[in-house]
Amino acid sequence: MSTNETTPGDVRDLGLAETGKKRIEWAAEWMPVLKSVREEFIHEKPLAGVRISACLHVTTETANLAIALKDGGGDVVLCASNPLSTQDDVAASLVADFGIPVYAIKGEDNETYYSHIAAALDHKPHITMDDGADLVHALHTDRQDVAQGVFGGTEETTTGVIRLRAMAEEGVLKYPIVAVNDAMTKHFFDNRYGTGQSTMDGIIRATNVLIAGLNVVVAGYGWCGRGVANRARGLGANVIVTEVDPTKALEAVMDGFRVIPMMEAAPIGDVFVTVTGDKHVVARDHFEAMKSGAIVCNSGHFNIELDLESLADMASGRRFVREFVEEYKLRDGRKIFILAEGRLVNLSAAEGHPAVVMDMSFANQALAARHLVVNKSDLTVGVHTVPEEIDKEVARRKLKSMGIHIDQLSPGQVKYLSTWLEGT
Ligand code: ADE
Repeated sequence: MSTNETTPGDVRDLGLAETGKKRIEWAAEWMPVLKSVREEFIHEKPLAGVRISACLHVTTETANLAIALKDGGGDVVLCASNPLSTQDDVAASLVADFGIPVYAIKGEDNETYYSHIAAALDHKPHITMDDGADLVHALHTDRQDVAQGVFGGTEETTTGVIRLRAMAEEGVLKYPIVAVNDAMTKHFFDNRYGTGQSTMDGIIRATNVLIAGLNVVVAGYGWCGRGVANRARGLGANVIVTEVDPTKALEAVMDGFRVIPMMEAAPIGDVFVTVTGDKHVVARDHFEAMKSGAIVCNSGHFNIELDLESLADMASGRRFVREFVEEYKLRDGRKIFILAEGRLVNLSAAEGHPAVVMDMSFANQALAARHLVVNKSDLTVGVHTVPEEIDKEVARRKLKSMGIHIDQLSPGQVKYLSTWLEGT
């Protein structure tokens, strides 16, 4: 455990702070929209006195969000949203240089992971900020004592939003939560271009394989899946898509991908990437059918997409052959390689999505937090979308930062769009 005299926390080593600070500053250069929000927050202090418990991937980009929230007057505490995604130098710098308590250590075991979530909840938040809904789950089960003081939350990712909607439908959700994931300026960009690039980055950093010419099987053709499929194709792979949804499967076909069931893909794939959000997408039967040398990874939120228990059961031995590459030697002599223990490969073996795309996601997060404060007495319990004015404002600021101008509707065009009377 490494903590600072004045700022509590549990990070690997405060001695890593200097590297972390430089990397946080580097990311800041690529986050102009979040910077503009931060500048407003410095003047307006919209989060004054608001305790925020954030359960997010502890990366350079998240650090910039946490700093903006603190500059807005927020009293922020951060814990990891995945045991393997923490950047230890960033965690150290947030504690040592920015006075933000962080509970996160890369590679922490499950017990530590949940104890860190508990520590974030000990902060008695007014706002929860989650990525995958583990914090909200803990608050609704073991830590209901904390629920009373919470007036709102935000959720970053598809998996988290699905969990929250299930809670709302069952009538157990206790407060309003804004689904940041569903903002257009979030999932069109972060899920597609962010996951696409960072997943290929994670696979390449972990293995150093040449993607060109390989059969890359992408399970799931949601926003993340289509990003991965397109980037794999760009690197020269023969991309195969597997789907359960007929419309998404059709889209994949018309985008030029080969679409087949996983059972048919299993014997021909060289690399498998799951991005479905569901469990056991690669299951025992699929492992049974794979070629020796197959590389299997997951870029969905939870590691349950791969049935690693069955694989372990089929194996006569296991060893790490490189960092993040675990060889499972099967009894019939085949070898299957699992990356990053089946955890999100993009955040475990690489650094997650690049800052330029997290810029929009986290500007939405910061503005959603302000929205919760301003509207706390009006928002009903349930899952809410990011208001369109926030979403559009993030897009406008991003375009401005890129020096891109667009056209405006003329008064005649506005009128035309509001009438049904004009035809041919
Ligand atoms: N999710 C995906 N990439 C991320 C990043 N770089 N920081 C925080 N959360 C992320």
